[in-house]
Amino acid sequence: MPNMRTIEWQNGTVLTIDQTRLPHETVILKMKSCEEIAEAIKSMRIRGAPLLGAAAAYALALTAHYSKAKSREEIVKELEKAADLLRKTRPTAVNLFWAIERILTKAKGFSGNAKALAAAVVEEAKKIADEDAAANRLIGKYGAQLISKGDTVLTHCNAGALATVEYGTALGVIRAAWEQGKKVKVFATETRPKLQGARLTAYELVRDGIPVTLITDSMVGYVMQKRLVNKVVVGADRIVKDAVINKIGTFTVAVLAKEHGIPFYVAAPKSTFDLKITSADVIIEERDPKEVTNIGSIRIAAEGVNILNPAFDVTPLKYVTAIICESGILFKEDFDKFKA
Ligand code: MRU
Repeated sequence: MPNMRTIEWQNGTVLTIDQTRLPHETVILKMKSCEEIAEAIKSMRIRGAPLLGAAAAYALALTAHYSKAKSREEIVKELEKAADLLRKTRPTAVNLFWAIERILTKAKGFSGNAKALAAAVVEEAKKIADEDAAANRLIGKYGAQLISKGDTVLTHCNAGALATVEYGTALGVIRAAWEQGKKVKVFATETRPKLQGARLTAYELVRDGIPVTLITDSMVGYVMQKRLVNKVVVGADRIVKDAVINKIGTFTVAVLAKEHGIPFYVAAPKSTFDLKITSADVIIEERDPKEVTNIGSIRIAAEGVNILNPAFDVTPLKYVTAIICESGILFKEDFDKFKA
């Protein structure tokens, strides 16, 4: 990233990096409407659960900021319409829905005039972004306690600065350990089909000077059997009563980690927790078959083949050693309370 947060509000413009263009090009998107942000989320120019939350909040902030409505009620109606559009972008990460509800609750409970309401919505969106940045630092601080000098940590997908407002969740833990001088090494899975590991995690870690080795997803069993990694840290899109939902392939990594006695840690802010529901209630996003048949624009699969392309999977809590959030580290005995 250039010297900025992954997402920023600047006088009525939302700035963010186009993640589909990385690592080859650093293209900054300058967005002025909810529709533009909704499109960027759908096309994964903006991605990663905490970033989706901040982006949805800023999308509603743009709606309020540019509204011509004269009354508070009219702005609330416009916000509800914008919220409907945002809710249809991606279904799995709860942070998006959490941020939308938080902004709508703020707007509906506000008693000032239209102009003051618009300003309050912008402030609330900025607060959501600031809180995410602060949460990531705390996740890093707590999570680094689980990392020892010389560890080699495997991570899947991208749960770095690019997936959050800044610093990252899983990569925040690795960064904090590195900053403490723990000399960690990282194995990053490429993360088919969208290659967030190869394109984004590798990019972030190389830039930070943290040693990183890229492997294909199918090499995880090999590196664990060979004892080339001794810990796993991943992010999450939704943590429910009985499971962690994260990027497709996370479940495979978790099962392999358990088989090899390797701790499997999940790092996520509380905005990712959705403890009212179980995994059976979660909608797993199914994406375009082209993501599987093609690599970039080049078709690799035989014509006529059937395709399945779920973007996330479900890792039951029995595979999770600990969850690191901004309040501290949760272990098995804490997970039991999720069910209450
Ligand atoms: O489809 P993506 O790239 O939005 O999926 C991202 C992930 O699965 C991340 O691991 C998760 O959102 C946590 S990011 C801190």
